Order: sequence, then structure tokens, then C-alpha cells
Amino acid sequence: MIDTLQFPITQVAKSRIKELDMDNVQFGKSYSDHMFMADYVDGQWKDLRIVPYGNLSMSPANTTLHYGQSIFEGMKAYKAENGDVLVFRPEKNAARLNKSAERMCIPEIPEEMFMSALTELLKLDRDWVPNKPGTSLYIRPFVFGNDPFVGIRSSLTYQFIIFTSPAGAYYSRPVKVKVETKYTRAAPGGTGSAKTAGNYAAALYPMVQGQKAGYDQLLWTNAGSHEYFEESGTMNVLFLLDGVLCTAPASETILDGVTRDSVLTLAREWGYPVEERKVSVKEVIEGVKNGKLQEAFGVGTAATIAKISHIGYEGVDYALPGEEQMVLSQRLLKSLDDIKYGKVEDTHGWIYRI
Ligand code: COI
Repeated sequence: MIDTLQFPITQVAKSRIKELDMDNVQFGKSYSDHMFMADYVDGQWKDLRIVPYGNLSMSPANTTLHYGQSIFEGMKAYKAENGDVLVFRPEKNAARLNKSAERMCIPEIPEEMFMSALTELLKLDRDWVPNKPGTSLYIRPFVFGNDPFVGIRSSLTYQFIIFTSPAGAYYSRPVKVKVETKYTRAAPGGTGSAKTAGNYAAALYPMVQGQKAGYDQLLWTNAGSHEYFEESGTMNVLFLLDGVLCTAPASETILDGVTRDSVLTLAREWGYPVEERKVSVKEVIEGVKNGKLQEAFGVGTAATIAKISHIGYEGVDYALPGEEQMVLSQRLLKSLDDIKYGKVEDTHGWIYRI
């Protein structure tokens, strides 16, 4: 654990934890007792504090409500058997938040502030980290422009907040995905590699269309020609094609996922050939037909690994090999869980212990 910055902490008079059914936590529905806040005013981060979780008050002219100058991160804390709270690779999220910040004209979040906020918040709300297999505490840091100004310019004031949310499984079964060939998640020169609100808002309409057609999620393809896979839903996507693990390179249209990096690292260590390259829709559909596509799965913080059961393309649903044959994705999920819950030695230095 690091030596944290000193700032005031106002604790709740009475914890809400007894209102939560810890055995049935769902993703994104309940929030822990406290949150961290800091304000960016006059060119500096000020007034660092932990306060009871609660609603915000802001001007109706708040720039973010209108123009979306906001960025976020997602990470998770896990309860080890000895009661320690283990956070998975938080420095990667701190670094990526600043990459997003740069793209969205948002001031840098000093890593020391990010890590101090995280540490103190988790020390205070450690009882909110569930301990059933598959559960965790989802951590949501975010930053938004806070000016009460409807003109278009980069905000002069910002707020940085971290709140946490006990989480169960995100997807409980393999997902059916549709190759999206009309709408685009990200285009060259756009904001695809930033974790910014507008990317997610813009994806909603195509996602709803996909859901109406019977799919759980979309497989995004590149803008314009729609020939190559980019991401799946809100996750990176990987294909095991004839023994080779393939995924699109992290680029300006693809998020540099922490789970993506962890999965590629493990697969390389296990001796799998790994290719970070353009993966075409054509080769994947052919791979399903000729049996060379062994597995396909999304990887992200919320779901960890989302196995794909069917790919819908040009009106045809292609069934992938059954879950019992998804050996690599299952091994990755188990190995990542073993690391995250502290069941094996952390040889990669991925765990931050609180
Ligand atoms: C993730 O899985 O990493 C996400 O960003 C999902 C989140 C938008 C709920």
C-alpha cells in the first residue's frame, strides 16, 4: 500500500450495507457508502475529500450535460480469502484515464491523487467488497467539465469522482453477437481510443437495433468498408483461429484494454502464437464454416471474458463450437480469477493490495 495524500474524510452516520443482499448483487445497481471528490479550479486540483455517497448538484447549463466533456475508467477490487482487498492493475487505469483526458482536453489527474483516493476509499468501504466467487467491487473513477456555460469551449472547472459498486457477474451465459455493417463505433481521427461518454451514447441506437433482432451485443467493424473487426459491445474482441490468438491492434479506434493486455500476456506465456493485426470478417466467417474458428470472446473489466456462442452476419447466424470446447477462454478466465482473488502468486505484479 502506498503512503497516501492527506485529505478530510466525512463518514456516513449509518452504513447502508445491511440493506444490500450481498448474495445476490447485480452489476451497477447499488453503491457503497462513500465517494471521493476533488475539484479543478484556477488550474489546480483542490478540495480533495471523501464524503457520503450522494447526488450531485449542478447548473442546468453544466457543459458536460450538453457536450459530453467527460471521461471514465472501470476497474475492480476482489476479496482474498484472508480478507485483504486486491485491486487489479489500477496504475494501468490511472494511465489510461490520462490518455483519455488528453484527447478530451481535460486536465491531467496526478497518479498520486488517483491512487490515494482509491486507497482511502477502499480502506473505508472494504466491507462492500463481496466475497462470493465471481463477485467484486466495481470501481468507477470519472472526470467531467463542470462549467455552467452553454458556449462551446473546453471547461475551465472539472470534478473528479470515484464511487464504487458491489458487482455480480455481467453476462451469465455465452453471448450472441451481430456483425455491425451499417453503424460505426469509432472512426480514424475520432475518440475511439478514449474512454469518453459520447462513444457509449453513440453505440446505444445500433445496440438497441441489434437487440430487437435477437442479439445480445454487436461486433463492431471498421468505419467505411466494415471489413475488419474492431471491438465487441464495450469490450475488445479476440479470435482463436487455427491455434492462433488474433485481435485488432490497440489503435486510435480501439480501446487499449487492461483485460486485453492481461489476456495476451498470459496466452503468450502459455505458448500460444498471438497476432495483433486486422482480423477480417471474411476470415472469421470462413473459419466458422471450415472449423478453423475455435473460439471467439470479448474481454473487458466488467465481464472479464464474454464467450461468444453465435455470430450473426448478413442474415445468417453462425454457431461457434460449444462452451465445453472453449478451452482457452475458460483457462484465461480461471487464471485471471486465481490472480485477482489472490489464489496464486502474483508473478506479474498485477495486484495492488489494500
Ligand atoms: C468494460 O468492461 O471495461 C466496460 O467498459 C464496461 C462498462 C462500460 C460497464
